[in-house]
Amino acid sequence: MTQIQQNIPLRQYNTLGIDTVARYFAAFSSVNELSELIENNPNTGIAPLILGGGSNILFKNHMNGLVLKNDIPGLNIVKEDADHVYVKAGAGEVWHKFVQYCLQQNWAGVENLSLIPGCVGASPMQNIGAYGVEIKEVFEELEAFHVNDKTVQVFRAADCAFGYRESVFKGKYRNQFVILNVTYRLNKKPTFNTSYGAIGQELERMGVQDLSIQAVSQAVINIRTSKLPDPAKIGNAGSFFKNPSVDAAFYEQLKKAYPHLVGYPNADGTVKLAAGWLIEQSGWKGYRRGDAGVHEKQALVLVNYGNATGQDIYDLSEDVMKSVHSKFGVELEREVNVV
Ligand code: FAD
Ligand code: EPU
Repeated sequence: MTQIQQNIPLRQYNTLGIDTVARYFAAFSSVNELSELIENNPNTGIAPLILGGGSNILFKNHMNGLVLKNDIPGLNIVKEDADHVYVKAGAGEVWHKFVQYCLQQNWAGVENLSLIPGCVGASPMQNIGAYGVEIKEVFEELEAFHVNDKTVQVFRAADCAFGYRESVFKGKYRNQFVILNVTYRLNKKPTFNTSYGAIGQELERMGVQDLSIQAVSQAVINIRTSKLPDPAKIGNAGSFFKNPSVDAAFYEQLKKAYPHLVGYPNADGTVKLAAGWLIEQSGWKGYRRGDAGVHEKQALVLVNYGNATGQDIYDLSEDVMKSVHSKFGVELEREVNVV
């Protein structure tokens, strides 16, 4: 049986580098191991916490329950037709390794999502997105283990209620399912998505003549590494907040008061504001308090310079939210999962 360990430090298991402790901790590589661990959970009063790469989580408290690291491996072609290849990936596979595998095979669809940290299993959790693409566009289905029923259930896209940084797994089914694997539908013939302004500029700077998914991936990597802090060097969880949407009339009102306001129209008539801009304009960019701070190049990213506690980061996020609300009347919502 897979051993449940006690009092395990979690600093290396979260990219913010928060030095918290798991009362109980184990890793699993199969659904049988998972089932056994849940059966033997020493603290059934608290739902087990599933961890992938820990790149979208803030440990605000000590973890008194069971923390389970998902290490389920596997990359297998499960179906193929004239236009598509369907790849089933184990939840524990590193997301960017999966992207690289697709690039090597010349399968398109995930190149814009290059270099997003974390694991396959978390990709549907918040419908990861970057540079004009979200995983819902290549998502076929997933298998998930129900923690109480101990059944494996299949979810198709329509069951997942994917939205901007949202899904049923982050919402109504939070803590109820463990995602075991995800099947992605990749394109044999690429449809390039270079609509996100910075990609076009970067491709031009790179001198790319013949567009390829490999070139798009490299452009995305170049942009990301120029803006976002590398968690190996400085603790962070990417964007700490979502970009908030406001109705068009309120947007117009704000735009009059702040002509440089950054906003993008949504299909439903609302306007998505750049939270990074709002935070920067509220004076937080580069701010530091102890070891907690707001990144100097990207105000949407909160950072841990070394020994910030989860509470330090959380308190800073509260202050940022209050200040943006009092200046602009806009409510920010955290993107990271606070536990
Ligand atoms: P974790 O942090 O381990 O978990 C996240 C949440 O999912 C937790 O609530 C956890 O309990 C749950 N969970 C994890 N695995 C499972 C599972 N198998 N079953 C059920 N629940 C599970 N995100 C974007 O969308 N776009 C970006 O461009 C982006 N850029 C980033 C850049 C940086 C530098 C960093 C640090 C983060 C960035 N992120 C981005 C956020 C993060 O990388 C993604 O959300 C990623 O999918 C999280 O994966 P993970 O394995 O690290 O999840
Ligand atoms: N901006 C500022 N100041 C800042 C940061 C940004 O004015 O400090 C402005 C920029 O100038 C730009 C706008 O805000 O006009 C948008 O900035 P950027 O292109 O850097 O993207 P973002 O909205 O900050 C989002 C995602 C990222 C994703 C990128 C690229 C969210 C919450 N964040 O960031 O996702 O990689 O777009 O698609 O949607 C993540 O989710 O963790 C993440 C990093």
